[in-house]
Amino acid sequence: MEQTLALIKPDAVERNIIGKILAMIENDNFKIRHMKLTQMSEQLAKTFYAIHEGKSFYDKLIKYMTSGSIIALVLEKENAVASYRKLIGATDPAKADDNTIRKLYALDKSFNSVHGSDSVENAKIEISIMFGD
Ligand code: RTP
Ligand code: MG
Repeated sequence: MEQTLALIKPDAVERNIIGKILAMIENDNFKIRHMKLTQMSEQLAKTFYAIHEGKSFYDKLIKYMTSGSIIALVLEKENAVASYRKLIGATDPAKADDNTIRKLYALDKSFNSVHGSDSVENAKIEISIMFGD
């Protein structure tokens, strides 16, 4: 069964909406296989988001992702990667479909409440970064 790596980002943990987001994940028939509350070190955030190094939003992204607690999850479902990207919606909540997590809960394009792996290959890498092998 396919797996994906999900994060509930610091803005959402701070606003006490972990439960609401987990309910949407469970209602969409994902199985939670691993879950932890943690905080990213600067080193970990830079490893996790290495693909964005040099982009205009990179420094702000690293500061944001290390600013507080996050929830890291390994989710399992058929087509988990694509299915979870559909559930979270577009990066910018203004462009996200109705009833997606970002449409309902994200603050803006930068502080957008959740992360989801964008490919099966990256899911494996991100699961290993967050949970080890
Ligand atoms: P994610 O990786 O967090 O699931 O989000 P994504 O694929 O939808 O978006 P991506 O392009 O990978 O960007 C990673 C995260 O960087 C922040 N961002 N801010 N202000 C901006 O223009 C901007 N663009 C991206 C967001 O937190 C985004 O989720
Ligand atoms: Mg991404």
